[in-house]
Amino acid sequence: MATSFSRSAFIKQMGVLSAGAVLSPNAILNTKNIENRIRVAVIGCGSVSNMYLPHLSKSPYVELISACDIKPERAAAQAKKYNIPNQYGHIDQMLTGAPFDMMVNLTNMQEHGRLNKQALLAGKHVWSEKPMANTYAEGKSLLDLARQKNLRIWGAPAVVNSPQFAFMSRSIQEGKLGKIAAAHAHYGHTGPSWSAFFYEKGGGSLPDLGVYNLATLSGLLGPVKSVVAMTSIINKERVVDDKGKIAVEAEDNAMVIMDHGNGVLSHVQCGFNYFDPYGHEGKGQERPTISIWGSTGNMALVGYDWAPFAVELANSWTEPPKRFATDTGTYVWEQGATIVAESLLSGKEPLINAEHALHVLEIIEAARASQETGKRMILKSSFPWPVVV
Ligand SMILES: NC(=O)c1ccc[n+]([C@@H]2O[C@H](COP(=O)([O-])OP(=O)(O)OC[C@H]3O[C@@H](n4cnc5c(N)ncnc54)[C@H](O)[C@@H]3O)[C@@H](O)[C@H]2O)c1
Repeated sequence: MATSFSRSAFIKQMGVLSAGAVLSPNAILNTKNIENRIRVAVIGCGSVSNMYLPHLSKSPYVELISACDIKPERAAAQAKKYNIPNQYGHIDQMLTGAPFDMMVNLTNMQEHGRLNKQALLAGKHVWSEKPMANTYAEGKSLLDLARQKNLRIWGAPAVVNSPQFAFMSRSIQEGKLGKIAAAHAHYGHTGPSWSAFFYEKGGGSLPDLGVYNLATLSGLLGPVKSVVAMTSIINKERVVDDKGKIAVEAEDNAMVIMDHGNGVLSHVQCGFNYFDPYGHEGKGQERPTISIWGSTGNMALVGYDWAPFAVELANSWTEPPKRFATDTGTYVWEQGATIVAESLLSGKEPLINAEHALHVLEIIEAARASQETGKRMILKSSFPWPVVV
């Protein structure tokens, strides 16, 4: 690598070295003329920013440059709390303001596609909260745009990073469960109380909650070939902090059956009307939320897939099930943006993959189409699999 390489040329080059490219991290991090930090601008300073900003601000690979929110007082409060030098009330100001390398999009779900496109057009890498876009087609066009411009885009969730996911994936790949037949996953609570967008068109329990389970099961069992689903609205009206009483437009209850090929079937259920004493925070959830069954064993993930803390494996007729992967390591669900920032510097491809995020988005769209038409929907997208071997 040329020693006179500029910082922006370097980061751009990292964009060119997309999926599959792995450089020696030391070779890159030791390059003299590059300041080893990705300059990050965070857009959306609401609830989830309280999880992202502490993580980003502790990373030696990240420099927080700007905070932006259409509610400028929120950008101001987070800028003050996390020592962020610039704050803006609109993306246009942020994109033409203090220079940065990657935008972290933590806005309302419906805004993601539009804002992510603006950032890519302005030459920024993007980490987006889920979903990456409102439709699969829109998300695919964003990925194509990123590739044309030698940029990277990634989307939440980061569930494939947990040591428990790795243990389950390896166990399946090594044949510890025999021939895989079926899997189940669920995630629900009584629904966010702070913002209306979760319940408006383009929101819903599938992109907000089911997305984790869909990423986990497709990540473990492989790309989905077809989907049948039913969705419904249980709670027709809600009272939320930002808009008071609202009509619920997006599904708050969903059941999705997926065909992973070779006869492997899995099922995800999610909703905003699930009484769960562990609620939105998930603390204290001791019971399995993901189960996988094969011909010689079964496996259950203890806790939620976004915050798991063990895997129970049963593959003996005589011994009780055993607990594995009880060390959570450095994994936390809010680490995605930090991990990809580090990967832009190291050149080491992260496990999180934009094609996987888009595949999950296509599953969500297919589930809704299946509900509307009563038909089984065939998917066209795929992603590099297995994720962990
Ligand atoms: N809250 C959580 O615990 C949590 C956890 C994981 C993922 N998420 C995801 O994070 C995203 C945000 O959720 P949240 O709970 O933080 O919502 P929120 O309503 O608390 O925050 C969203 C913020 O984005 C701002 N915003 C909206 N449109 C904007 C625009 N065009 N430009 C700039 N700012 C804009 C809003 O003013 C608001 O402050 C969603 O995709 C959600 O699914 C949330």
